[in-house]
Amino acid sequence: MDETQDRGDGDGDCDGSAEGKMEGTRVVSCERCPELCASRSRIVNGVGPTDADLCFVGEAPGAQEDAEGEPFVGRSGGVLDDVLRDVGLARADVRITNCVRCRPPDNRDPRADELEHCREYLAAELAAIAPEVLVTLGKVPAEHVLGRDVAITAEAGDVVETRIGGRPQRVLLSVHPAATLYDRSQREPFAETIERAAALAGEAVGDQSRLGEF
Ligand code: URA
Repeated sequence: MDETQDRGDGDGDCDGSAEGKMEGTRVVSCERCPELCASRSRIVNGVGPTDADLCFVGEAPGAQEDAEGEPFVGRSGGVLDDVLRDVGLARADVRITNCVRCRPPDNRDPRADELEHCREYLAAELAAIAPEVLVTLGKVPAEHVLGRDVAITAEAGDVVETRIGGRPQRVLLSVHPAATLYDRSQREPFAETIERAAALAGEAVGDQSRLGEF
């Protein structure tokens, strides 16, 4: 495997260990969430360079992601790919991951306990990658990372300095790409947010102010 690309190919078998096991940025086994463990096809790990300046974090894998073992490969992923291309980035240039690595059944939102079970995996992945900018895609990841309620439509485009796993992290809040499929008027603000993310990552500014703790 190319170390810098870190493909999301964890296998979903429960291995009898209640503790999850990571290899690098990948979770290779985990059965912390019995319901997700029973219904998933596989663990869907983050993909993209392990030294990416820009990292996107979504909520949890959907059906397509569960089938292919890669985040954002369904319709939402198509929107993300299109907008990345419009700002001169390829999918392979950025890191893409999720708060929860196993597909919740029936496309329900991940529950609070599931988010907590996966928190240390995301923190470990982000510690390894240390992106300049973390873009939260949707309300669930924004609230999970910031630890507060987020009015995502109102706050999309905002930059927040927080700490994740003890490290300072610049976070840019975005609506979920799926929102642009249901409401075309969200497409332009979404594209502007991604353009801002690319610009911020390019600037690589090291402001260490703190507004929260992951
Ligand atoms: N939605 C998400 O939040 N994550 C994915 O990987 C796919 C769709």
